[in-house]
Amino acid sequence: MSAALVQLHSREASLVLEAREGAPPLWRHLGARVDAAGLAALADGRTPASFSLDEDVPFSTAPPAGLGWFGLPAVTVRRDGRSLVPVWHCTALHADAARISLVLEDAATALRLERRFALAPGGAFLLDASLTNLGTQPVSLDHLASALLPLSAHSAQVVSWHGRHNAELVEAVEPMPRQIWRREGRCGLTGHGGAPALLVLEESAGDHAGQVLALQLAWSGDSVLAIERDDEGCWQLGAGAALAPGEVVLGQGESWSAPQAIVAVSTHGRNGAMAQQHAAVRARLDWPDGRMRPRPVHLNSWEACYFDHDAQRILALAESAAAIGIERFVLDDGWFKGRSDDTAGLGDWTADPVKYPEGLGPLARQVTALGMEFGLWVEPEMVNPDSDLYRAHPDWALVLPGRERPTARNQLVLDMARVEVRDYLFARLDALLGALPISYLKWDHNRDLAPAGGAAQVRGNYDLLARLRAAHPAVEIESCAGGGGRSDAGIAQFTHRFWTSDNIDAVSRVPIQRGFLAFLPPEVMGAHVGASPAHATGRSQSLAFRAAVAIPGHFGVELDPRRLSGAERDELAGWIAFHKQWRHLLHGGWTQLGQGNDGLVWQAAGQGDEFLLFAIRTAPALDRRPQPLRLPFLADAAACTFELLRIAGGEHGHAAHSAPLFAAPVRLAGSWLARAGLPLPPLKAESVAIFHGKVQA
Ligand code: GLA
Repeated sequence: MSAALVQLHSREASLVLEAREGAPPLWRHLGARVDAAGLAALADGRTPASFSLDEDVPFSTAPPAGLGWFGLPAVTVRRDGRSLVPVWHCTALHADAARISLVLEDAATALRLERRFALAPGGAFLLDASLTNLGTQPVSLDHLASALLPLSAHSAQVVSWHGRHNAELVEAVEPMPRQIWRREGRCGLTGHGGAPALLVLEESAGDHAGQVLALQLAWSGDSVLAIERDDEGCWQLGAGAALAPGEVVLGQGESWSAPQAIVAVSTHGRNGAMAQQHAAVRARLDWPDGRMRPRPVHLNSWEACYFDHDAQRILALAESAAAIGIERFVLDDGWFKGRSDDTAGLGDWTADPVKYPEGLGPLARQVTALGMEFGLWVEPEMVNPDSDLYRAHPDWALVLPGRERPTARNQLVLDMARVEVRDYLFARLDALLGALPISYLKWDHNRDLAPAGGAAQVRGNYDLLARLRAAHPAVEIESCAGGGGRSDAGIAQFTHRFWTSDNIDAVSRVPIQRGFLAFLPPEVMGAHVGASPAHATGRSQSLAFRAAVAIPGHFGVELDPRRLSGAERDELAGWIAFHKQWRHLLHGGWTQLGQGNDGLVWQAAGQGDEFLLFAIRTAPALDRRPQPLRLPFLADAAACTFELLRIAGGEHGHAAHSAPLFAAPVRLAGSWLARAGLPLPPLKAESVAIFHGKVQA
């Protein structure tokens, strides 16, 4: 009997399910694009296996955990303290070329599970799930998988990221587990290891070729990702929000929706999966007026003066920013009442009367008169015990009855599940945005949650962000959490930039930014030129190297230009102009990452057939001469012309040899560039060769 298939196909991938009369569809394929014509029903091809249930229990879209499915569960739910064992019946199935929707119900437990698989722009699959209590008695939801997927028997490695404040996104590559692999977040927010996300690489997959599956959850809270091997020789991947027992209780008719999972499958290696993830995230970004305009170059006041500022000092900083070409001036922490250090003031969102006796109005108008946008730092979800807000509403902070409230950075967390808390914050922020020409908020979150706030905390914050976006649609928002502690596709629906890391040391930034780009596009990657020595590491780097590493992202400056020499200020202004000249290629288009020989890494970003290539060397070369740089993405091009625009960094010490080859543009065949490679000039440690590339079809 041939199988009744429902399927989604992107250019590179296919998701194939087998519909069954009355039962949840079975997984038949999630992988590279296939033609499933002629496929027999799974039941016709499966021989009985010893020590199995008499009735086969293959992997379905909602397997019956507790009744013969022994793998990861799709749903874990209790009523009256007892675990429920739903057996799902498929009551509706709708499928077209762009989506498959399933309604699954179980009369015995009075539950409904809805699952949706849809194609995102760019070819990723979007997976949604929601559970509804149809019964009269409440149910406790312990887990609802956003995704529960088959991984191929050829899977070889799992790639994930971990990190801490000032050291975000450290990549970990591990072999596929023989038992179970888990990555859980329990800090209440995304965390410095980046989005709840992972890659699964098939044998021989790499940056440019081979099959890679990339999953990220659009979620800014606790999460669990798990990969478990079954005894048939395959792996299952489960992903969802991590819920505490009793946290989600559904009354009659109530539903809970899992965060969306974005699943990319590519046969073009990690770069192919990254491209699909970028496209899916871009589709979630909600730009003012519906489209991204050129990303304005920032100056952020934090590392320029920390808390030590007032109206005069900030105006002088803004004037020096405008003089070097800055387009958006962001006044960071320290502007509000009582905020002379990090012990007081969070919660009271009015200007400090000592530092800003006339409020922020005159300053904001001066900044806009200088031709820049004015942006402001806030940390709405937090409160200092030393604040008027806390004195008035000590009960608004998250607390466990009878327990101390642990502070971090002297602050507590407001309970965002409470309507009155959100209303207060909306009123304060709405008043600021309504009264002043503020076109940007840097929205920070400087601690982990203890006690936990759960999923309701995350959704409460999303709700506040959505309300502010609706009331002030022209205002862009930056997501920050002690640097990159909340960079994910969930909050990306409401925000327009992420602060990638408080570590602005350019050597540290190279791997951090590559980890960021695995799931989020470059135009939302905040990347600044910081001071030297770098405040986070104490290391010194040339201005050119610092600038070149930041250029591909949403560019900015995080230092006081008045502390630079005249020559350095001119050089920085030159880099700002360089970024403005090329940002149309760097943002909104394609990105490729790769590795050369001898520790060199490269990155290309472009639109269509035009791009910039950055060949980046952080550590000194060990080999006498640089090896040519293979650029596999050019394999199908007839030819490509490269012009060396700049070598940034490496100016001092022994002179680098200059080769006449790079004095004029170099034109080489795509096959040569992909398989033999682009000749490179010698690069010293901490330098970047920046090329302009133009493909000839
Ligand atoms: C966090 C952010 C910094 C800065 C400070 C202000 O650490 O990551 O950029 O805004 O807070 O307190």
